[in-house]
Amino acid sequence: MKKALITGITGQDGSYLAEFLLSRGYRVFGLQRRSSTTNLERVEHLIEEGIELVPGDLVDSFSLIKALESVRPDEVYNLAAQSFVPASWSQPLLTGEVTGLGVTRLLEAIRQVDPRIRFYQASSSEMFGLVRETPQNENTPFYPRSPYGVAKVYGHWITINYRESYDLFACSGILFNHESPRRGLEFVTRKISYGVAKIKLGLAGDIRLGNLQAKRDWGFAGDYVRAMWMMLQRDEPSDYVIATGLTYSVEDFCRVAFSHVGLDWKDHVVQDPKFFRPAEVHLLQGDASRAAEELGWKPEVDFEGLVRMMVDADLKRIEELKRRGVVG
Ligand code: NAP
Ligand code: GDD
Repeated sequence: MKKALITGITGQDGSYLAEFLLSRGYRVFGLQRRSSTTNLERVEHLIEEGIELVPGDLVDSFSLIKALESVRPDEVYNLAAQSFVPASWSQPLLTGEVTGLGVTRLLEAIRQVDPRIRFYQASSSEMFGLVRETPQNENTPFYPRSPYGVAKVYGHWITINYRESYDLFACSGILFNHESPRRGLEFVTRKISYGVAKIKLGLAGDIRLGNLQAKRDWGFAGDYVRAMWMMLQRDEPSDYVIATGLTYSVEDFCRVAFSHVGLDWKDHVVQDPKFFRPAEVHLLQGDASRAAEELGWKPEVDFEGLVRMMVDADLKRIEELKRRGVVG
């Protein structure tokens, strides 16, 4: 039975990856950082299915070494990060420590404990930032536009450097935006799907958003975690862009989400300068043809299917809260 250790298991991707690896017969461990309150909402159902949590934090090298020594994994998936772009301007040093240097701490721990461990790094399309070409592929130069993007560029290159310096099986997946009903409420897609559900159920009147013209290549998180695993099953380690190849604006997302419940987005969306960013990534569109050819990966959920899935899940969730008298 193969063993995998996932950092960031309590996050959106961590929960889908844990489910996927369990379904492939893995023994799954998750690194959990100390918190004053429970943050297991996304993985509670998997604890019964056997995922095991080990304490640790990407800012604490000793905790990473201890976690690797106790688990002795075959594969490590580094999904932990300060991942919210606006927070990287208010906490640039923390973002650098966790999202950037955290990768080196983990790679060093692997080198020390067992250099045969296969390593996946969660790189990001945010690294392309002010894009140099469209669509973006593995050879497109980076031009990050946020402290988060800068930290991810560091994490990306240190992964490649450790592969080349120490012959580690270390891969970076350059993943474009991927969403789901488990997305954090502060990210724009979930903010919209949750807002639409509240408006439809009479609990709110509008949604306040920033730049409606920003365009993203949005896919479904469940499809993207499959690609992470596929990268670690190759004979040789390499880096891959993972994307749908299609791009839509925030406005498009609003239009589809509201029309799914019979409403017009123009009646409910208010632009608020508070949500504009100091430097914006205006357009992302990925070219995942290398992943298609070499990994055999392709997405299964399309844009409209994703929007509908998220709105339906939030309608169900809020209806349940209303039924229990928690909201309304
Ligand atoms: P997420 O939902 O924000 O989850 C982040 C995870 O990192 C959480 O489990 C969080 O733990 C953990 N974490 C944060 N700081 C930590 C620390 N110091 N030590 C240990 N764990 C820590 O993010 P996601 O959307 O699942 O994304 C997963 C990874 O992919 C991230 O690295 C993200 O930057 C990257 N990525 C995401 C996308 C996307 O569109 N989703 C695209 C490209 C790349 P708590 O629960 O305790 O906060
Ligand atoms: N969050 C948010 N809130 N974004 C808004 C809003 C709003 O009210 N209004 C407009 N936007 C725009 C942002 O300006 C941005 O251009 C776009 O919506 C997407 O924002 P997010 O959903 O916050 O995601 P992101 O693209 O900045 O970052 C996500 O994707 C990256 C991959 O490209 C995160 O998951 C990162 O961790 C990930 O690396």
